[in-house]
Amino acid sequence: MMRILLLGKYGQLGWELRRALAPLGEIRALDFPEIDLTQPDSIRPVIQEFQPQVIINATAYTAVDRAENEHDLAMAINQAAPGTMAEEASQVGAALIHFSTDYVFDGTKGSDYVESDRPNPLNIYGLSKLGGEQAILDAGGDYLILRTSWVYSSRRESFVMKVLEWARTQTSLRIVGDQVSNPTWCRMLAEVTGQLLASSGRDPAGWLGERRGIYHLAGSGRASRFEWARAILALDPRPEEQIAQDIIPALTEEFPTPALRPLHSALNCDLFNHTFGLSLPDWQQVLPLAMEVE
Ligand SMILES: NC(=O)c1ccc[n+]([C@@H]2O[C@H](COP(=O)([O-])OP(=O)(O)OC[C@H]3O[C@@H](n4cnc5c(N)ncnc54)[C@H](OP(=O)(O)O)[C@@H]3O)[C@@H](O)[C@H]2O)c1
Repeated sequence: MMRILLLGKYGQLGWELRRALAPLGEIRALDFPEIDLTQPDSIRPVIQEFQPQVIINATAYTAVDRAENEHDLAMAINQAAPGTMAEEASQVGAALIHFSTDYVFDGTKGSDYVESDRPNPLNIYGLSKLGGEQAILDAGGDYLILRTSWVYSSRRESFVMKVLEWARTQTSLRIVGDQVSNPTWCRMLAEVTGQLLASSGRDPAGWLGERRGIYHLAGSGRASRFEWARAILALDPRPEEQIAQDIIPALTEEFPTPALRPLHSALNCDLFNHTFGLSLPDWQQVLPLAMEVE
């Protein structure tokens, strides 16, 4: 049985990971305020005391626009804290699984990004996440960094929930059509993470260490926000509540936001698929599963 420390149990992804990891062994799951990532001293004793084989970091500072004014906080949570986790993981012989983002790229490549492409973040959030990747690499232990994109849940506020709400409160929706990436259902991402660990055998840290590296892992296929929004509205479980008459594609430049966003930041996930024999299905197949009302 595996000993897994899950950090960030209340986040979109962390919530699903608690369930996906449950069959694997002894899981200790924590979140704020039990741990406060701005205080490295709150992380170290937890790791030393529990002696996990695997640490999964699902915490993050994810407020992309707010980060422009909260640089130090974003850096503490997204850069310094993962570095501390990686150092402690290495001390106790654990592997660290950490999640990063397509926002490490500037979106100007014009096609899907592979792991060897040069990052060039456009905003503080992306910069802080890239800093976290580097801090983990610098710690020199065993790690998997899984870069994902456009993570959604039907539980916490996400693009899916926002689009459904806009359609109930606005007669005409304008959604950007020039931002393209991979919609990723957090439950499917959690499932794949669990299955990956299930295949790691008796020595998960060693097994992950042999495969250490940065991998892209996001929903297959790509979509613009406009295409994604249209698909969400078509699957609305309560269409009679929609007042939106039409949905119109818009340009990113028409909606200035504090943080710049990459335009084409879709991820090529072939390396992960070949290495682990697992992939996230096409986003168009997954969205109906995510939106099915239980
Ligand atoms: N969401 C996306 O579209 C997206 C896209 C690409 C990559 N990712 C990456 O995927 C991973 C999972 O993202 P997610 O969407 O599941 O994030 P999320 O829903 O924002 O969850 C992050 C979790 O971290 C916790 N946290 C924040 N500050 C903390 C602190 N100081 N101490 C302890 N815990 C703290 C949050 O607690 P509170 O709720 O109390 O703040 C929350 O439970 C992250 O690494 C993220 O960067 C996300």
